[in-house]
Amino acid sequence: MRWLIAGAQGMLGHDLVDRVLADGHDLIAVDREEIDITDSDSVAQVVKDIDVLVNVAAFTAVDKAEEEEATAFTINATGPEILARRCREIGARLIHVSTDYVFSGDSTEPYNEEHLMEPKGAYGRTKAAGEWAIKANTDDYIIVRTAWLYGRHGNSFPATMKRLSETRDKLTVVTDEIGQPTWTVDLADLIVRLVDAKAPSGVYHGTSSGATNWFTFTKAIIESIGKDPSMVGETTAAAFNRPAPRPHYSVLAHEALQRIGVAPIGDWRERWIQAASVMFSNDPADQ
Ligand SMILES: NC(=O)c1ccc[n+]([C@@H]2O[C@H](COP(=O)([O-])OP(=O)(O)OC[C@H]3O[C@@H](n4cnc5c(N)ncnc54)[C@H](OP(=O)(O)O)[C@@H]3O)[C@@H](O)[C@H]2O)c1
Repeated sequence: MRWLIAGAQGMLGHDLVDRVLADGHDLIAVDREEIDITDSDSVAQVVKDIDVLVNVAAFTAVDKAEEEEATAFTINATGPEILARRCREIGARLIHVSTDYVFSGDSTEPYNEEHLMEPKGAYGRTKAAGEWAIKANTDDYIIVRTAWLYGRHGNSFPATMKRLSETRDKLTVVTDEIGQPTWTVDLADLIVRLVDAKAPSGVYHGTSSGATNWFTFTKAIIESIGKDPSMVGETTAAAFNRPAPRPHYSVLAHEALQRIGVAPIGDWRERWIQAASVMFSNDPADQ
């Protein structure tokens, strides 16, 4: 099968490229230098002779999106529309990655795939528009919503906490945002499994199972680098004055995956232990 990954240089893109190549597929891996997903001529030139296009290119700066919503919209909504039209034209399947930010975050129970999208901030609005644009322009798509993504190839939360723990005696982390820390390697694997399973077109949730808050996740990170987790203290989101609102509750249910018999990603804590052994490894083979 011939794959194309747009956004291959991003945090998820890197691990997805590795995963697709490991399976022996033909792969065209492109990022901004080779393709502009917001430009239909650029897309037409690059997107051809493929079976599957995975779009992990996005405007992901949540706070900056509040100031630059028009730019974020072009990348997160117009881009997916152009890709969806092109995929329909050439008969390719489109796999697109979306986010928990399409929900309000006000729920107290896991969001299922059909729950109403009611984003509170600009980033979520643009990502929700991207989902609508895909559904309106192709019948052959998989939208995978993920959340709390971390990986070795980006400025991810675990790397930040590790770095801060090297210069500070105490880390203060919020307890009132609940979610599912999700490793890019696991999400890449899920995307490949969905394609292999010829999953019906629709929306799927691609997050770790279980739920936690940033405080408890940070304690697990600190433990995994051999430090005393009691250096992590509690605070609330109100202590941070951030331009974009954060969802308080970002737990996603995996009902659509279960319906088609594709196993969801495992429990966040067990997956973190596995991820930490790779992300914080000094072995050059893991770099
Ligand atoms: N990170 C998270 O916690 C999280 C949570 C939920 C959902 N997601 C979703 O997961 C996906 C992957 O996220 P990520 O964290 O891996 O993203 P990322 O690291 O920010 O990578 C995105 C990539 O897309 C590229 N890009 C931006 N605009 C483009 C354009 N017009 N044409 C071509 N490429 C362009 C970026 O290039 P530049 O660097 O040059 O801009 C970057 O290489 C995104 O759809 C995101 O919305 C992420």
